[in-house]
Amino acid sequence: MIQPTRRLRRLRNTPALRDLMRETRLHLDDLIYPIFIEEELDKKMPIAAMPGVDRHPEASFERELDAARAAGIKSVILFGVSRHKDPTGSDAWAEKGLVYRMVAKAKKHAPDMTIMADICFCEYTDHGHCGVLHEDGHVHNDLTLENLAKQSVTACRAGVDVLAPSAMMDGMVAAMREAVDAAGFAHVPILSYSSKFASGLYGPFREASGVRLNGDRKTYQADPANARAALLESALDEAEGADALMVKPGLFYLDVIQRLRAQTLLPIGAYQVSGEYAMIKFAAKAGAIDEKTVVLEALTAFKRAGADFVLTYFAKDVKGYLGL
Ligand code: PBG
Ligand code: ZN
Repeated sequence: MIQPTRRLRRLRNTPALRDLMRETRLHLDDLIYPIFIEEELDKKMPIAAMPGVDRHPEASFERELDAARAAGIKSVILFGVSRHKDPTGSDAWAEKGLVYRMVAKAKKHAPDMTIMADICFCEYTDHGHCGVLHEDGHVHNDLTLENLAKQSVTACRAGVDVLAPSAMMDGMVAAMREAVDAAGFAHVPILSYSSKFASGLYGPFREASGVRLNGDRKTYQADPANARAALLESALDEAEGADALMVKPGLFYLDVIQRLRAQTLLPIGAYQVSGEYAMIKFAAKAGAIDEKTVVLEALTAFKRAGADFVLTYFAKDVKGYLGL
């Protein structure tokens, strides 16, 4: 009989031995839970493309903070669903606009939690783009920078713990850093969506966030074919003062996470986006895959690739999945 010279199976003999030999560990501390908050909504509204995820009324979204906390989650990122949209998304920086109100409310209700705010305009503009439209139909980079700066200061005044800019404008981190520092918020970190791709996987998010977009975001988000360009975006954000970086989406871009890990000493996040969530949910509902197994496998893959933390709509489920 042939005798293998190396028997890797020896270290897989028992569950305890496999636990001992595990290289990558997923922990509840690694997770950030996204919450959609809609103004003037009476009761929570299910999102058809994301079974298990709801839009929460501004008046009662604290319950979702409590649910996250009960599930062992300490960090959330808030997305506002605006009913006051205009061409520039001005409600996002209004003194008592939705961004201000939801951050202030979250901070007041859950001072122990890390409250992050997505800093962008697509949920606040009537055209659904992530900034100010120029007459050529493209998003005007530098005018949008001014508004990102204003939105950031508004979020800081409301008490935000982390600013998370997702607009993919050139120079956005520098513009925000300068503005919030000048306003007295030098201590507030910026987690930049630094390597964000123009992905088809954001489809369910558009339903979740009430965005009706004509066209696409290909003039500002990175081409899915371009890893180098996306890595350069992260390098520039780092040079502009970003405190942490992010790759988005997650699973299709593990190579980018791995290469970014080799490129930077900053913390890296991975965003398991709405389409990734939907693919797992619907495949599990159809009986094709086991949800718990696949969720844990995907989240572990982000960490194995080099991510320090993960934004995921599955965050509240992980405690149970880990048997905690
Ligand atoms: C807005 C934003 C998007 C997501 C996070 N922030 C949508 C987009 O860029 O079109 C996507 C999140 C998801 O799909 O879960 N800039
Ligand atoms: Zn946007």
